[in-house]
Amino acid sequence: MKTQVVIIGGGPSGLLLGQLLHTRGIKTVVLERKTKDYVLGRIRAGVLEQGLVRLMEQAGCAERLHAEGFPHDGTLISYGDEMFRVDFTEHVGTPVMVYGQTEVTRDLYAAREAADAPIVYNVDDVVIHDADGDAPFVTYAVDGVPARIECAFIAGCDGFHGVSRKTIPESVRQEYEKVYPFGWLGVLSETPPVNHELIYANSPRGFALCSMRNAQLSRYYIQCSLDDHVDNWSDDAFWEELKRRIPADQADALVTGPCIEKSIAPLRSFVTEPMRWGRLFLCGDAAHIVPPTGAKGLNTAASDVHYLFEGLSEFYAKGSSDGIDTYSEKALARVWKAERFSWWFTSMMHRFPDQTPFDLKMQVADLEFLRDSVSAQKAMAENYVGLPY
Ligand code: FAD
Ligand code: PHB
Repeated sequence: MKTQVVIIGGGPSGLLLGQLLHTRGIKTVVLERKTKDYVLGRIRAGVLEQGLVRLMEQAGCAERLHAEGFPHDGTLISYGDEMFRVDFTEHVGTPVMVYGQTEVTRDLYAAREAADAPIVYNVDDVVIHDADGDAPFVTYAVDGVPARIECAFIAGCDGFHGVSRKTIPESVRQEYEKVYPFGWLGVLSETPPVNHELIYANSPRGFALCSMRNAQLSRYYIQCSLDDHVDNWSDDAFWEELKRRIPADQADALVTGPCIEKSIAPLRSFVTEPMRWGRLFLCGDAAHIVPPTGAKGLNTAASDVHYLFEGLSEFYAKGSSDGIDTYSEKALARVWKAERFSWWFTSMMHRFPDQTPFDLKMQVADLEFLRDSVSAQKAMAENYVGLPY
C-alpha cells in the first residue's frame, strides 16, 4: 500500500487531522490499535475551546456540535462554602462549548466513513521505519497478517502509550514530567447537572468537579488517592463524598442516581521535545499530557493538529517546507502555556499530601485574588477559553 500521510492512532487527533487533510485532497491511512466501539467507549474530555470548534467546522464535522453542544459563558469556583464565578464572555468575549470528546470522535468517524477514507482497526506491532530518511514506511499486522504502507509523512497521533514518541531516538528526545500524588475518580450519571455551569471545588477533603454532557447526563469527579480503586466506591459513597466537597446549597440541589460509568485517571504533566523527527510528527497526547483540571488535553491536541495541517497543506499546495519545519517550535510554544495553566489550576485546587499550613494559606490567597481581581479573572478566562492559534 502507498499513501501520502500515514496517521497512527484513530483518537481525536488522528481523525481530525485526517479529515482536514481530506478537505485538501491529501491522502491518508489511519491505523488504530483498538476497535471503533472501544475508542467510542472511552469517556474523556467535555469542554471544547473555540479553536477546536472552528477546526471541526473547517473539517465539515460541526453540524451536530452546534445543534447539541452547550456554549458556556463562565464557570464557578468554590472553596469551602464560598463560590464565585469567572465570566469568560465578559472578560475575553468568548465562551467555551460543552460537547463530549466521545461525540467529537463519533462525528469524525462518521465523516471519515462518508468520505470512504481508509482506516484499519485492530492493528498490532506497528513499527515506523526510516522516519529520518526520504522514503519512510510503516509496518503492522492485523490478525497476524503482516502489512506495509509507504508514505511521505507519518503523523504520530497514538496517545501517551503509543509507539511514535518512542521511535524518536533517546539522544534526540528531551522529556519533562511532573507526576501528581493523586488521581481523579470520575462518574457519569443519567441525572440533570447540579448547576447549569461547571463547578471547580477546592475543599478540605480534596478537589471535586461538577461537569456535564447534556441536560440529562452529568459528569462528576473527586480527587482520590493513587492506590484507590473504583470497587472501593459504591454509588452512594461517591455521592456522599461529592456532597461534602461542594458548597452546601449545591449539595442540597444535587440529584443523584445510578452511575453508568466509573473510572480513575492519574494526573500528570508531560512534554517531549522536539515534536518532529525527520518525517515523523507527534500530535496530541503522543507528545504531551496535562492534568485535566484546565480542560486542556483535547484542546492542545487540536492546536497541534492545526499547525501540522497548515504545514502539510503548504507543502502539498506550494512545495514549501516552511510550515513543517516550524511545526515543533510553533506547537510547543502553545503547549507550554497550556501546561503552565493546567499546573497552576491543579496546584490551586487540590489537596497535596505534603502541604504545609503555609501552602494552604497560599491556595486561599490565590483563590481570593482570583475572586477579587478583574485582571486575574481576565487572565484565567483568556487561558481557559484557549490561547489563540
Ligand atoms: P488518544 O485519545 O489517546 O488517542 C490515541 C489513539 O491511538 C487511541 O485510539 C489508541 O487506541 C491509538 N493507539 C495507541 N497506540 C497505538 C499504536 N501502536 N498503533 C495504532 N494506534 C494506537 N482531557 C480533558 O480535557 N478532560 C478530561 O476529563 C480528560 N480525561 C481523560 C481521561 C483519561 C483516562 C485520559 C487517558 C485522558 C483524558 N483527557 C482529558 C485527555 C484527553 O482525552 C486527551 O488529551 C485526548 O484524548 C488526546 O487525543 P489524542 O488523539 O492525541 O490521543
Ligand atoms: C469533563 O466534563 O469531563 C471535564 C470538564 C472540565 C475539566 C475536566 C473534565 O476541566
